[in-house]
Amino acid sequence: MEKLVSLCKRRGFMFQSSEIYGGINGFWDYGPLGVELKRNIKDAWWRDMVTGHDDIAQLPGAPSPYEMTGLDCTIIMHPQVWKCSGHYDLFHDYMVDCRESKKRYRHDQIQGRWVEAKGKKIFATAGSDSESPEADIERQALKFFGMRSKNADELKWDGPLVSLTTVDDFEQVLGPDAKTPGTLTAPREFNLMFKTTIGALGGEADTAFLRPETAQGIFVNFKNVVDSSRVRVPFGIAQVGKSFRNEITPRNFTFRSREFEQMEIEFFCHPASSPEWYTYWRERRFQWYQDMGLDKRKLILREHTPEELAHYSIGTADIEYAFPFLPEGEYGELEGIAHRGDFDLRSHMEGKLDPSTNPMTVELNEEGKPKHRGSGKDLSYRDDISGERFVPHVIEPSAGADRATLAFLCEAFTEDEAPDDKGKMQTRTVMKLHPRIAPIKAAIFPLVKKDGMPEMAQDIYRTLKKSWNVFYDEKGAVGRRYRRQDEAGTPFCITVDGESMQDQTVTIRHRDSLDQWRVKADDLTDELRKLIG
Ligand code: GAP
Repeated sequence: MEKLVSLCKRRGFMFQSSEIYGGINGFWDYGPLGVELKRNIKDAWWRDMVTGHDDIAQLPGAPSPYEMTGLDCTIIMHPQVWKCSGHYDLFHDYMVDCRESKKRYRHDQIQGRWVEAKGKKIFATAGSDSESPEADIERQALKFFGMRSKNADELKWDGPLVSLTTVDDFEQVLGPDAKTPGTLTAPREFNLMFKTTIGALGGEADTAFLRPETAQGIFVNFKNVVDSSRVRVPFGIAQVGKSFRNEITPRNFTFRSREFEQMEIEFFCHPASSPEWYTYWRERRFQWYQDMGLDKRKLILREHTPEELAHYSIGTADIEYAFPFLPEGEYGELEGIAHRGDFDLRSHMEGKLDPSTNPMTVELNEEGKPKHRGSGKDLSYRDDISGERFVPHVIEPSAGADRATLAFLCEAFTEDEAPDDKGKMQTRTVMKLHPRIAPIKAAIFPLVKKDGMPEMAQDIYRTLKKSWNVFYDEKGAVGRRYRRQDEAGTPFCITVDGESMQDQTVTIRHRDSLDQWRVKADDLTDELRKLIG
């Protein structure tokens, strides 16, 4: 992972935000190569899910033909949106501070054990990502007790290393009310939405929030889309855009950031067919990551347990990837596919969140009935053929553009052997990105800077530039130029050599197989189109 992080910085995939000021935790910038990579991933998703989707055909596994359309909504929305979505009341994590190390943890990122010395007992801690938790815990305990080294008579381990993963664990391990005699504060609730203020006066009534998901823009525009575009249920609305979460502990490179991009679909269907659509989207989205180059052996589709389900969800499955920064056998979420039932449309319509699942979100009026907090607008749908009126159910495939980018980078990073200019085998670093998402599709080189080769190579560059992001390079030995492109993930290098001057052919070198073959310069656009797909 360190090698990948350093390559990302060195070659301009990713930089820490505001780096010259020491950076800002949880925020990342994409460099010249990274911006192309991420844009290609978002474009591939949009093309495969939205514009390239065949509205008339019945796709394999789909219960019926369906339509897809898109939206681009604002980041700041009416604050009532977040009340009705449940984010205002329910979107929180628990944070815990370690008094000793002065570190802040999300409640599920702690492991520790009881340690006893000098008549006192503390719960010494380490983050769940610690590479040597025993050593970290020992160091912390020694510091706490003011001891120099671990003397078995003086410092006693009491019980095994335990992970605190749920808020209940705190109570069980640390005692009632989680009042810790050790080094941790009890878990405290923390809403993850970023607050901002609208207008110059900026009173409490002007508080607004940066959206924590793009989904709600789609729900509140459901009626607008139905009325303006003649779509019929079943159909999906897609959106790509920034979301913001004030994560307690952003970490693992871009995996958990405070500002990130989502690629979300809200798919509206009849309640009776919603289980079939749920199955369809889980399979479809799982396959997409494989089609774009992720190794199936590193991917899992994991069904949530009932305890894990979010407040809006009837069922959720996560697509997870074995990121290299995770311990062996662990996976990190790339995308969640949730069956949201009619929770959102009904909530924006009526404002009553389901009292049986979320009693804490329900405010009662003087008559003891749930207060009406929705828009009061009718968001039901009438099927013009059957005449039936219903509130559609929603299946939501919700992906993270930054997590997908990180997964593709991790998958692509390879070290193998390739011959240098003198034919000697050398270790090379190569980013084996799928050609569709590679930042640069082809690099064009004149073998030497004379005999008309640069002129021909530049002509090719200008022709190909009309269709793709291509790169021209005439500096240094050709072997070194190949290596630079290998690191950038460029799938094809095109070289103009002496033979090209005779017969107008050029060589194409394939990044992964190192195969080289000749094609007519005039056929390059067609050839690359076939190769890139
Ligand atoms: N609308 C549903 C929703 O937002 P989610 O599971 O909270 O569901 C969906 O988020 C996806 O957004 C995740 O699978 C992940 O890819 C991405 N995501 C969520 N939080 C993130 C964070 N802090 N940093 C980067 N990506 C994140």
